Amino acid sequence: MPAIRLRGAGLGFGERTLWDGLDLDIAPGEFVAVLGPNGSGKTSMLKVLLGQLALRAGTAEIVGAPARTGNADIGYIPQQKTIDAGVQLRGVDLVGLGVDGHRWGLGLRGRGERKRKVAEAVAAVGAQHYAHAPLELMSGGEQQRLRVAQALVGDPKVLLCDEPLLSLDMANQRLVAELIDRRRRTHDTAVVFVTHEINPILPLVDRVLYLVNGEFRIGTPDEVMTSEVLSELYRTEVDVLRVRGRLVVVGTGDTLDALGSAGAEHCHAETTQSGVHA
Ligand SMILES: Nc1ncnc2c1ncn2[C@@H]1O[C@H](COP(=O)(O)OP(=O)(O)O)[C@@H](O)[C@H]1O
Ligand SMILES: [Mg+2]
Repeated sequence: MPAIRLRGAGLGFGERTLWDGLDLDIAPGEFVAVLGPNGSGKTSMLKVLLGQLALRAGTAEIVGAPARTGNADIGYIPQQKTIDAGVQLRGVDLVGLGVDGHRWGLGLRGRGERKRKVAEAVAAVGAQHYAHAPLELMSGGEQQRLRVAQALVGDPKVLLCDEPLLSLDMANQRLVAELIDRRRRTHDTAVVFVTHEINPILPLVDRVLYLVNGEFRIGTPDEVMTSEVLSELYRTEVDVLRVRGRLVVVGTGDTLDALGSAGAEHCHAETTQSGVHA
């Protein structure tokens, strides 16, 4: 049974269609990256899977059951917000919010089990040394590792991540990406990873779903991240270059603006020579 199944799925607001006719099965343990410019409907797709948004057409299933809110099969890392100063939440408290209270009950034994689960999730992301400190004192990378722990503490079959590498430095991007990758390998968790920068996760990705202007493509990175496919999606000339194991997407004008929030590293055609950074 697929972890996620979309059939003839369509979503839109008012006159606007974000995407339509989307058929997608994501297997347990599969790592799927969702790419696309701002406003292409990446976050909305996660909200559909979370049962927070209704499809306009078609169906969405999580492990064989219709998408619905409060689904314990799903772990979710929302797009990062900075923790407001003055919020007296410790790292372990944040992780504890991810524990499904009903499952362990409120008795002494339940509380002990809950504590054990939290400690295990904190250790799995290597946060045991700082998890008892207030979140507001932690670096962005430390906070993000605890968000991963919070999403995984309930042992979900599906992990949905919305731009989880945003505003992290390269070392922490790698760390967080590897934590998520390890989890799907050890626990067969299906991963849907929304990102505007594929390079940090390129070696981990099984398939890419690329959304642009109501159109989409699904396939391996080699199938989708090509000059031909991206030129078709953006309806203008786009070049995809491979530079030392990284992807550089080159467009012009308006496409460049769109690519600025999607795809891989990007640069202006006229400045290809100097603009390529590997
Ligand atoms: N509840 C809503 N009502 C109306 N429009 C919405 C709603 N949610 C999202 N949108 C619009 O749908 C588009 C896609 O949004 P979103 O899924 O957040 O895009 P992405 O995450 O790819 O940047 C945006 O133009 C946004 O303004
Ligand atoms: Mg978004």
